[in-house]
Amino acid sequence: MAFTGFTYVFLLMTIMGSPVGAQVVNWGRCFDFAVQRNFNTTAYLGIWYEIEKFPASFERGQKCIQATYELKDTGHIQVTNEGINIETGEATSIVGDAYAPDPNEPAKLKVKFFWWQPAGDYWVLHTNYDTYSIVYSCQDFLGIVRVEFAWILSRARTLDDRILAKLLSDLQSMGLDIGYFQPTDQTGCDEEKEKEHYLIFS
Ligand SMILES: *[C@@H]1O[C@H](CO)[C@@H](O)[C@H](O)[C@H]1NC(C)=O
Repeated sequence: MAFTGFTYVFLLMTIMGSPVGAQVVNWGRCFDFAVQRNFNTTAYLGIWYEIEKFPASFERGQKCIQATYELKDTGHIQVTNEGINIETGEATSIVGDAYAPDPNEPAKLKVKFFWWQPAGDYWVLHTNYDTYSIVYSCQDFLGIVRVEFAWILSRARTLDDRILAKLLSDLQSMGLDIGYFQPTDQTGCDEEKEKEHYLIFS
């Protein structure tokens, strides 16, 4: 798709001026961060819980955010993102598709949730597969400004404070502004799910 200058300006206005906005927008190009070496997709599959995130309009007002990654026959990964609306208690979910366009860089994934959407980056910067993962996504517009997303994920709904502090300080030394991170509420989630179950089956 050929983006015209006008489209870019329009996109920028949408992103920066959107009332639900609160995206992280900064001057300059995206960082070319080093990603997880020898990334093992198989070991990465399964459920990850969101512990910290950069503000993102598509996750606004949600708690108990989690993602499930499953391998498809095509070799792509099915991504199921789930959350609970804080106001209404309603469960929400969305299914997307992820894959690594370059087999030599398996930690640099592309993900999309709607057919009309350009695929976004999902870079696994650092993971030990069974405790934590750091994910970075960035889109730059004409090399002038960039919109950034970052997530710290855990295999459990909590993450040890010392591990979290270490991950944050590593990110800070890489040059990421960790001041944007906001904790995700992962409390009372299983109770909410019970309630949901009860509503469906009662
Ligand atoms: C990748 O992870 C899977 C599942 O943990 C494991 O069985 C496999 O040996 C790993 N592959 C490599 C190359 O380490």
